[in-house]
Amino acid sequence: MNTNGITIRLEQESDYRKTEELVRDSFWNVYRPGCSEHFVLHVLRGVPAFVRELDLVMESGGRLIGQNVFVRAEILADGGGTVPVLTMGPICVARDLRGLGLGRLLLDESLRRAAELGFGAVLIEGDIGFYGGSGFVFASELGIRYGGLPEGADASFFLCRELIPGFLSGVSGVYSTPEPYLVTETEVDEFDRGFPPREKLRLPGQLEG
Ligand SMILES: CC(C)(COP(=O)(O)OP(=O)(O)OC[C@H]1O[C@@H](n2cnc3c(N)ncnc32)[C@H](O)[C@@H]1OP(=O)(O)O)[C@@H](O)C(=O)NCCC(=O)NCCS
Repeated sequence: MNTNGITIRLEQESDYRKTEELVRDSFWNVYRPGCSEHFVLHVLRGVPAFVRELDLVMESGGRLIGQNVFVRAEILADGGGTVPVLTMGPICVARDLRGLGLGRLLLDESLRRAAELGFGAVLIEGDIGFYGGSGFVFASELGIRYGGLPEGADASFFLCRELIPGFLSGVSGVYSTPEPYLVTETEVDEFDRGFPPREKLRLPGQLEG
């Protein structure tokens, strides 16, 4: 896809390092001091659940300016059995190009491709402020609960977008973040040593912990 000189295409192996640098820069000190997302991306590419056809980068004038990835996941249905879904991310846009609609462009193109491939729904942890504009709703509205969250806890971070309308009609159940996302601090620190040193800062607005 090419709009106004912005191209969204599949990531190539030759992009890997540059994409990881972009992800590291985009997430650094945003949700916690430092970040783990560049390592998560590195891990995800190597797992069978990773969807290669949805491993996307966005570029402009030969510069990598955004990326998004998807992983196969499942809902454990209350009635028994599992429902195949996708989860998504990390997704990012270069810091100096935010607020221009590029995140929306990348997200919507990613979702269009996921729907075209026949996937039924995407479940994510994210901010409704960004994702709501692309059709995401609170997963609780569709009867899907976040694994391990105590009854009555705030689940407004847990969002869902049906790709096939009605895909989750009649389904209730529990979703858990796929295991490859759950990296340890030690692994992240070790991986991060392969990048230029950067200061980890505790900043307002970061998640607790
Ligand atoms: C989130 C991110 C990809 C958005 O990219 P962007 O190019 O700045 O987004 P857009 O300009 O397309 O903004 C689209 C809409 O989302 C809103 N928005 C953007 N970032 C937001 C955020 N972090 N929280 C809430 N709303 C946000 C914008 O105000 C805009 O609203 P509008 O459609 O009502 O005008 C980008 O800020 C980023 O890379 N952030 C760091 C990494 C990150 O947090 N990724 C998401 C993890 S869940």
